[in-house]
Amino acid sequence: MLGYRHAFHAGNFADAFKHLLLVQLIQALRRKDKPFCLLDTHAGAGRYDLHSASAQKNREFAGGIGRLWNQEGLGPELTEYVAQVRALNPGGELREYPGSPRLTRALLRPGDRLILSELHPADHAALAAEFVGDRQVAVHPTDGYETLKRFLPPPERRGLVLLDPAYELKDEFARLVEAVKIIHRRWASGIVAIWYPILDRAPSLRFQRTLGALEIPAMLCAELGLYPYDGPPGLHGCGMIVINPPWRLDEMLGRLLPELLRELRVGEFGQIRLEWLVPAP
Ligand SMILES: C[S@@+](CC[C@H](N)C(=O)[O-])C[C@H]1O[C@@H](n2cnc3c(N)ncnc32)[C@H](O)[C@@H]1O
Repeated sequence: MLGYRHAFHAGNFADAFKHLLLVQLIQALRRKDKPFCLLDTHAGAGRYDLHSASAQKNREFAGGIGRLWNQEGLGPELTEYVAQVRALNPGGELREYPGSPRLTRALLRPGDRLILSELHPADHAALAAEFVGDRQVAVHPTDGYETLKRFLPPPERRGLVLLDPAYELKDEFARLVEAVKIIHRRWASGIVAIWYPILDRAPSLRFQRTLGALEIPAMLCAELGLYPYDGPPGLHGCGMIVINPPWRLDEMLGRLLPELLRELRVGEFGQIRLEWLVPAP
């Protein structure tokens, strides 16, 4: 049984980074009328109670969504992300935090679809309950990497795969590389977004080099670092690799990452990176 539970981390700086980008990727898909399909391979519980004992244990959300919740003067993308979280908290107090499934669901149009897989029995049960009776959302208790093989390419031929594993397994980066190869073989035009932690710096850089060597065109890497990478063990930062990013995502991130760093910075250290691992054709 895997031990990772996202409830301890919901809404932290890494979630804010990931979900901010996710909302923008979905907004880009919504710009065309044609329906899209989003496959979230490691979906988590769907939504999280920030008053729960798990979330309160280290109050990680305070360094993420908590920093943005009442902040004035945010740019349009951060405003939009906070608005999505506010939609779950109509009373005005920050209590519920939407995971990637809930955030995505709020942005689906009537013809769009969401496929979710979650392996942890308790999180799967919560996810299934969240979307019971929802005909646009399918919830599977299966391995996210197997789900890829089962559902790609989607008949819509437009959409996004979000790969957001827990990185508990030593070979997770290697699994992700295999997953990217599978996705590319089956659905070369799909958008792929891979979130990764920066714990030790070296493995995440090796991962990027391995992905870059696949020479799949249009691979963009965005990173946010809040703690010195050679400092005490912990989550120093995180990144997202986007394959087939929407037009001008790089320009938007060029504006957005410095703003996010300004809002979430905790000390002197702060680092952002935006780089094409493989350029767009
Ligand atoms: C980082 S969390 C997901 C968070 C979620 N994507 C979000 O943004 O709200 C990773 C999840 O993957 C689940 N998981 C771990 N291994 C898995 C696998 N092979 N297939 C599907 N889910 C898995 C864990 O139980 C955990 O809930």
